[in-house]
Amino acid sequence: MGGLPVRAIDNIALEVGAGEFLVLKGKSGSGKSTLLSLIGGLDRPSSGALSVSGIDLSEVNPTQLARFRREHVGFIFQGFNLLPTLSVLENVALPALLTPTHAQDAYEKAWELLRLAELEQRAHHKPSEISGGEMQRTAIARALINTPALIIADEPTGNLDSKTGQRILNFIQELNRDLGRTVIMATHSSDADAMAHRILCLVDGRFAQTVCKE
Ligand SMILES: Nc1ncnc2c1ncn2[C@@H]1O[C@H](COP(=O)(O)OP(=O)(O)O)[C@@H](O)[C@H]1O
Ligand SMILES: [Mg+2]
Repeated sequence: MGGLPVRAIDNIALEVGAGEFLVLKGKSGSGKSTLLSLIGGLDRPSSGALSVSGIDLSEVNPTQLARFRREHVGFIFQGFNLLPTLSVLENVALPALLTPTHAQDAYEKAWELLRLAELEQRAHHKPSEISGGEMQRTAIARALINTPALIIADEPTGNLDSKTGQRILNFIQELNRDLGRTVIMATHSSDADAMAHRILCLVDGRFAQTVCKE
């Protein structure tokens, strides 16, 4: 920050099992997004060891890192991050179209996921023509298209009303419970506490020994 180093994540030891549903809590600025960015290969650690799906992320080059993200991780963000000029169907298909091994069946798979997300009626709409909940369900379908083992969700309900947010959380729980996806989710609310296998609390870039207070 202006030449000053910021220790966003400091001295973290974390092992997440396949199929686990881990919730990261902590106040704004505690390091949740930074930790998710490291695990998802959007950022790289300045020191330490980091291995995801058997890939050592501190060793790989930028091309390999991009490939890791595309093939192993599905991202869900607070702001949905849909491409505004593409339809719902095209947004969902896009990561597969960019992946040689998945491009062939991209649209078939996208339709399948639109069914799962109950979005078939919205397939040809643009993101600006659908509701916030539908946007997030589109983003979740997109996150699943390359069948990643790991789903990373950063405050996925932050821009939604509580009823819509609950529906999104239930959908994410189904991905974990029924489809066996590992889920690592950051949130500052307690709405997901009941579905988590484990809840960790970040304070100033470190894990707190106690539960997070709201
Ligand atoms: N690009 C950046 N440059 C400088 N500091 C940053 C940057 N991104 C985040 N930080 C700082 O890192 C810390 C952790 O931020 P973040 O991971 O976004 O926390 P959270 O997601 O829990 O709100 C905060 O002190 C924040 O100000
Ligand atoms: Mg954050």
